[in-house]
Amino acid sequence: MTDSVDLDALESELLAKVKSANDEASLEEVRIGALGKKGAISTRMKGLGQLEPEQRKLTGQTLNALKVKVSDALSERREVLKKQMLDARLVTEHVDVTLPVRPQQQGTIHPVSQVWEEIVQIFADLGFAVAEGPHIDTDWYNFGALNIPDEHPARQEHDTFYFHRGEDGKRKVLRTHTSTVQIRTMEKTAPPIRIIAPGRTFRCDSDQTHTPMFHQFEGLVLDTDIHLGHLKWCLLEFCKTFFEADDLKLRLRASHFPFTEPSMEVDVNCSWQGGQLKVGQGDDWMEILGSGMVHPNVIRAGGHDPEKTQGFAFGIGIDRLAMLKYGIPDLRAFFESDLRWLRHYGFSSLNVPTLAGGLS
Ligand code: DAH
Repeated sequence: MTDSVDLDALESELLAKVKSANDEASLEEVRIGALGKKGAISTRMKGLGQLEPEQRKLTGQTLNALKVKVSDALSERREVLKKQMLDARLVTEHVDVTLPVRPQQQGTIHPVSQVWEEIVQIFADLGFAVAEGPHIDTDWYNFGALNIPDEHPARQEHDTFYFHRGEDGKRKVLRTHTSTVQIRTMEKTAPPIRIIAPGRTFRCDSDQTHTPMFHQFEGLVLDTDIHLGHLKWCLLEFCKTFFEADDLKLRLRASHFPFTEPSMEVDVNCSWQGGQLKVGQGDDWMEILGSGMVHPNVIRAGGHDPEKTQGFAFGIGIDRLAMLKYGIPDLRAFFESDLRWLRHYGFSSLNVPTLAGGLS
C-alpha cells in the first residue's frame, strides 16, 4: 500500500542516505537503491497501475515530485563530493617547484642506443624512413631472395644460427644481417624507397670484435636513375656528420657481395697518432661498411622490375661505429652489463642526439 505517510518517510530516508554518502561509489549505491530498475521509487511507480484512478493520479504526482527531489539531491551531493576529492588531491599531489633538481642521475644511455639514435637522426635529415623486420626469419629472406642460393659459399661465411626443421622441412634462421629488411620493404612499398633498417643480428662467433648478437643497419634506396654517385654522396654525408669531421674522406674499394653488383667496401681516412684513433683525419684507412648497387635478382625477388628501378644498398655495424667514434676497445664489454663500464661509456639521458643540438 503506497500512501502519503509512507512516501514522506521514504523521502526523509532517501535524502538522509544521500547526505551521508561519503564517496562516489556509495552515492551511486543510493541512486540505484532509489532510482535503479528495482529501486524504491521505481518499484512504487510500477505499482501505480493497481491503484484506483483517483489515488493513482495523486500518488503518481507525489512519486514524480519525490523522484525529482532525490535526483536533485543526488546531483548536488555528487558535486560536493567531487570538489572534496579534488581538494584532497591538490593537497596530497602538490609539487614544490622550488625544490632543486635531483643531484645524481642514476641510469645512462648505452652507447649502442646512443649511436642508433644518432644514425636515425642523420638519415631522417636525408629523407630516409626507418623500417623493421623480424629477428627470426626464413632462409628465403636471409639468403635466397638476396641472391645467395643454396650452395653459395657466402652461407658458410655467415656462421648462421639455424632452428630445427619445421613441418615443411625448412629451417628458420636468426637473421645474420639486416639485409632481410631490403626484401620485406620492397614487397610492401613501391619505389621510390628510401629506408634505413637498424636492428639486432646474430652469428655464431665470439672474440674481441665479434659477439653472437650484434647490431647493424641496412640502407636501401630504390628509384629510377639512381647511380653510384648518389651512393657515394649519401655515405660521405653520413660519415662526415656521424664522425663530426668535415674533411673526412671516403675510399670505395671493389669487393663482392651476392646482393649487389658492383659491390664496394668503403673505408674512411683515419690517423693513429700517439696510439689514438681519429676518424676523418690522417692518411690511414679503416674499413667501415659494405655497399653496392642492388643486384637485379634482388630487385626481382622484391617484386620490382630491374629494367625500370635501380638503387643502392649498404650495411654497417652499429656497435663497430660506436667503438670507432667513442674509443671503446672491446666489443664483448658492450653486452656484459658491467655497471662501471656503463657509467664510464654511457650517455646522459637528458642529452638526446639531434642535428640541431649536437649529436654527441
Ligand atoms: N649484409 C652484409 C653483411 O652483413 C653487409 C652489406 C654489404 C649490406 C653490402 C649491404 C650491402 O646492403 O650492399 O656483411
